[in-house]
Amino acid sequence: MEKMITCSSLPMTAPTATPLAYSPGLEGVVAGETSISTVEDGLRYRGYPVGELAERATFDEVAYLLLYGELPTVGELAEFQARVAMARRLPEPVRQLFHALPKWSSPLDALRTAVSALAHFDQDMADNSTEANLRKSERLLAQMPVAIADHYRISKGLQPVMARQELSHAANFLYMLRGTEPPAEEVRALDISLTLYAEHEFNASTFTARVIVSTMSDLHSAVTGALGALKGPLHGGANEKVMDVVRSAGGPSTAEAWTLDALARKERIMGFGHRVYKTGDVRAGILKPIARKLAEAGGSELVQWEDTADIIETVMAGKKGMYPNLDWPAGRLYHAMNLETPVYTPMFAMSRIAGWSAHVIEQLASNRLIRPRGLYIGPAGRSVKPIAERG
Ligand SMILES: CC(C)(COP(=O)(O)OP(=O)(O)OC[C@H]1O[C@@H](n2cnc3c(N)ncnc32)[C@H](O)[C@@H]1OP(=O)(O)O)[C@@H](O)C(=O)NCCC(=O)NCCS
Repeated sequence: MEKMITCSSLPMTAPTATPLAYSPGLEGVVAGETSISTVEDGLRYRGYPVGELAERATFDEVAYLLLYGELPTVGELAEFQARVAMARRLPEPVRQLFHALPKWSSPLDALRTAVSALAHFDQDMADNSTEANLRKSERLLAQMPVAIADHYRISKGLQPVMARQELSHAANFLYMLRGTEPPAEEVRALDISLTLYAEHEFNASTFTARVIVSTMSDLHSAVTGALGALKGPLHGGANEKVMDVVRSAGGPSTAEAWTLDALARKERIMGFGHRVYKTGDVRAGILKPIARKLAEAGGSELVQWEDTADIIETVMAGKKGMYPNLDWPAGRLYHAMNLETPVYTPMFAMSRIAGWSAHVIEQLASNRLIRPRGLYIGPAGRSVKPIAERG
């Protein structure tokens, strides 16, 4: 006869004998090894400084670098771009899903739902090998901008625009969103911003993706989860808040007083501060002149927002010792390109998919389940009274 096991007869094992280190928000904790990027010496992707990549390469080359480990040759790039261009379409049911979503669905929520839905249609879904994950990564790289553009147009009652195979990632996105040929200077500015957004070590969304695949789950699940983490205003959602900040400051004549008041009220100025960078974010410095250049091309109202932003920066540095992160110029750049605010975080995602995918592949290549501990601060041990004896 089987022996009855009662809860009280279960062995009480101590989970660990050594004292556990605790760092709120995992600040300063090294949570894994990576050869994809480092923030130690400026930001480098696979060893290359991000500033050199922004200046001398395109986002398409950077996406290849992140996925395959090396910058592409002319031939490798052409083949990569051709594969990605071929994958620039959504299965019809995914596009239909956009019609079914409520009018108020945000573009980021729609993108997260689309990525989850795309999993069902991917022929490599059940295969978690590096080769299959590279194919899935290329497809998501191609499909995410299409999903953003299709959802945007459908939510406005417009007809989606077919992708153009000969265009780069940046150019095709602008073309699909607007339905018109994008100007070269806007394509280059967007391309640089995508390079700067493409990868950032163990940030919250990338770490989320790594945690998900560490259970031996799949790439689409990891990217769906990463999109959820990216959405928050302390992470990717910050770029959608930047113009609110700049507009609230009123203009160059009121910006200093507004910023001082906001700091006195202990408000968080979105687009400033960073968990790792405490003396400035190299990416913000690279994008700032590009945002101003496009603003200057767009007229005096845009220039006054740049001037306002400069004053806020000066006050934040002087009073708080705090510097802009990449979202600060990116939010203004996208505004200067006349793009609507709710697509800014999805645009971050259509770049970061390159980094997320590289991390998923790296995690799976030498996987160990990511399972930290919690520091218990709840009630001391107690026993359960039958319900009639409680209260
Ligand atoms: C990015 C961020 C979450 C990093 O935060 P963190 O390392 O956890 O720092 P903390 O939240 O512990 O903040 C430390 C102090 O700086 C202040 N602080 C942080 N960011 C601030 C900001 N953007 N504006 C004003 N004060 C800020 C906090 O209020 C806190 O002040 P206190 O010590 O007086 O309480 C934070 O800087 C922030 O919220 N920035 C705005 C959102 C943003 O731009 N996110 C994109 C990041 S790339």
